[in-house]
Amino acid sequence: MLMFPCEVVAADRALQFQRGWFAHPIFKNGDYPDAMKWQVGNKSELQGLPETRLPSFTEEEKNLIKGTADMFCINHYTTKIVSHLTARLTPPSYKYDMDVSEEEEADSPTTAISNQRAVAWGLRRLLNWIKEEYGDPEIYVTENGVATDIKPQLMTLTESSTPKRSAHYYYHVMKDNGFPLPDDEKILYGQFPKTFNWSTASAAFQIEGSWRAHGKGLSIWDKFAHTPSRVDNSDNGDIACDSYNKIDMDVEVLKKLKVTLYHWDLPLALQKLGGWENETIVQRFRDYADVLFSRFGSRVKFWITLNEPYIVANLGYGYGTFAPGIVGKQYIAAHNLIKAHAEAWHLYNDKYRATQGGLISITINSDWVEPRNLYKQEDVDAAERYLQFFIGWFAHPIFNGDYPELMKTIIRKRSLAAGLPESRLPEFTPDKIKRINGTHDYFGFNHYTTVLSYPVDLGKQQDYEGDRGTGTTHDRTWIESGSSWLKITPFGFRKILKFIKDEYGNPPVYVTENGISERGEVTLNDIHRTHYYENYINQALKATLLDGVDLRGYTAWSLMDNFEWAAGYSERFGLFYVNRSNPTLPRIPKKSASRYSSIITCNGFPDPWTP
Ligand code: BGC
Repeated sequence: MLMFPCEVVAADRALQFQRGWFAHPIFKNGDYPDAMKWQVGNKSELQGLPETRLPSFTEEEKNLIKGTADMFCINHYTTKIVSHLTARLTPPSYKYDMDVSEEEEADSPTTAISNQRAVAWGLRRLLNWIKEEYGDPEIYVTENGVATDIKPQLMTLTESSTPKRSAHYYYHVMKDNGFPLPDDEKILYGQFPKTFNWSTASAAFQIEGSWRAHGKGLSIWDKFAHTPSRVDNSDNGDIACDSYNKIDMDVEVLKKLKVTLYHWDLPLALQKLGGWENETIVQRFRDYADVLFSRFGSRVKFWITLNEPYIVANLGYGYGTFAPGIVGKQYIAAHNLIKAHAEAWHLYNDKYRATQGGLISITINSDWVEPRNLYKQEDVDAAERYLQFFIGWFAHPIFNGDYPELMKTIIRKRSLAAGLPESRLPEFTPDKIKRINGTHDYFGFNHYTTVLSYPVDLGKQQDYEGDRGTGTTHDRTWIESGSSWLKITPFGFRKILKFIKDEYGNPPVYVTENGISERGEVTLNDIHRTHYYENYINQALKATLLDGVDLRGYTAWSLMDNFEWAAGYSERFGLFYVNRSNPTLPRIPKKSASRYSSIITCNGFPDPWTP
């Protein structure tokens, strides 16, 4: 949030008018706050009055008033956002004396009282303000609560003294004397299975550069990045990290080679035929896979057909914020992506597996989601829709057969209600369902963050957003990263790994990406990233040891700072810093690189107290 000094002063002035009016005389010097005396004095003079409308205390009164409190008692309900305003002079009023305008804090939940949002973070700031302003007094919160207008559920609330759920909650807070760190946030000591695979990822377009070397044709990302206003700072992948020329150096830090067939850089020539919208891409993808399997299959034993089809479909062909920048075609793109994956898997299975003996599957990405209000059924339902429209869209056809029922039902219903002859979600024939179902050797999974869900009704809007009907937000206490969408939420990692186990038949899972970005000032002491890896990997350990998730491998994203798609080079995910102001693009390890390497060496978090 941008803060302007005059707004900070306005906020302090508002506090002085409210709290300071009474607290200042008692806790400070027996007199009203200077800001109040100044404002009311000036306004009174401007209003042509002979003296200020704020009465004054005599010296004797001041001495009498000052220090007449053993503790600071505060009642608090809400927080407002204020800005500076030159308020009118007439009629003379306390409100206009303040020279501020007030707004609601729009991100916080509303209550039954209009204009009184429940702004949890405001209480913390207020307590800090009192501490600073009045010299760290003993504080007692003597009132704090919220008004709701939900009708009591009559069946359960028959007695007038029946406790609400909040009563149980408050009872627990008192019993625990606060919020002891839940067990699931405490570090678990232990190690991953001996055969666990550790790795670090990057992607061709994001690091290679040499965009026209040896007659290389254009890809959809070359085109996108060379289109004005598509990528931040007009960045592009022409040179990227120059890994095309520095291959030996980069491979030096990587042990085993794993290969992804498709990480978003579709040849532009294929896009000219419709790209993922054109069903012929399925056969072409199979042909392409054939070339790679036959050329590299003797050395590559771990294949990923597609990286994050969700992003390809939804950002590339739905919202249009990623290449090729097409809007509203995500369902058909997804349909072809799923079929293309299945054909590549079958090809490997039928023609190469016996001789090459590798593993092949797809990498699906998903956030974890929590209902914004755990006790509100609409938020719980919104969370379910969020997951089924995200991970389920791709995982369900491949691991369980066909799209999730929830998706099929919602999209059909909304399409027919809008007068369309059929569902906007394409259908798989029964044969196709069978052919796609089971095309996996493992569950490749990319994960970064968690969101909070709530329902949104977009009326008749005929698209993915309208179908999903879910809005998302974040908890303000979650630590931020260099990407607005990515907050540090380690607990969600364990939960979604467990979800995968329960929902998709306990498959072997390889985490093929997980990491965090930073932006702005460069520091090699990247404590956020170190914290992120320690906590996320520890949650992965809990998923393995406590929840029985069959986790086989973990991959950090990313090896080095690179071309972060539409964000260009402004968001940096690397364990290694790439100094872009030096033409040789040197790679310099950040602190997180050594922490990650020690976690790998220890194969987890061995108990320091065990000899
Ligand atoms: C992608 C990467 C990307 C990373 C961070 C993943 O979704 O596969 O290419 O850099 O997220 O946004």
